[in-house]
Amino acid sequence: MRGFVRYMKMLPKMWRSPVSREVVRAISPRPGEHVVDVGAGMGPATVLAAKSGASVLAVDPTRYMRRILAVRRLGQRARSAIHVAEGSAELIPADDQSIDAVWTVNTMHHWTDLDAAILELVRVLRPGGRLLLVDEDFDAPAHPAFAHMQERRGHRDRHFTEIDPAVVEAKLIAAGFASVEGSNGSMADRPAKVVRATR
Ligand SMILES: C[S@@+](CC[C@H](N)C(=O)[O-])C[C@H]1O[C@@H](n2cnc3c(N)ncnc32)[C@H](O)[C@@H]1O
Repeated sequence: MRGFVRYMKMLPKMWRSPVSREVVRAISPRPGEHVVDVGAGMGPATVLAAKSGASVLAVDPTRYMRRILAVRRLGQRARSAIHVAEGSAELIPADDQSIDAVWTVNTMHHWTDLDAAILELVRVLRPGGRLLLVDEDFDAPAHPAFAHMQERRGHRDRHFTEIDPAVVEAKLIAAGFASVEGSNGSMADRPAKVVRATR
């Protein structure tokens, strides 16, 4: 029961978040562009991006997340711009060089194969395409959710991958990305691992 109550309290954060808002602002999708939200979850970034007039491919491997986003999509004025699809960072359902921008929020710690994910990012982005990878750093005491996330430490240690932005940066450079910058920085005033790049 406690778990259920805790989950219900977390739902609004999965539905919308200041970090997703900031990521969409930074990516600034334009009308007519094709963009991908990798690990879209319940779609906090997807629904904002769709308002721009871009076509948004919301990719997620979890059927539950896709179902919730598919229902949420129906309530959006820009619903025809939102396409929910099964996929992952390691398998993005998009044609080669067909995408103008890709972002991900709070999914990198779930990635099972960083090298495969980078190959997919190189493959789907067109030359000049924008990339923004963000994982909030819940281990930083300055993060507002630090105390809550410390309680879940055991679960996270068992199931999450540690992300080093410098390693992601090096791999993106090796894969041919330009102006790559990985840092332990912040997003929407929250400590975050942030990697920006241009294809
Ligand atoms: C913490 S949620 C974040 C969802 C959303 N981006 C947000 O900001 O609310 C993590 C999401 O990553 C998805 N995920 C799990 N493994 C993944 C993978 N290998 N590639 C991409 N997404 C993955 C999960 O299904 C889940 O929806």
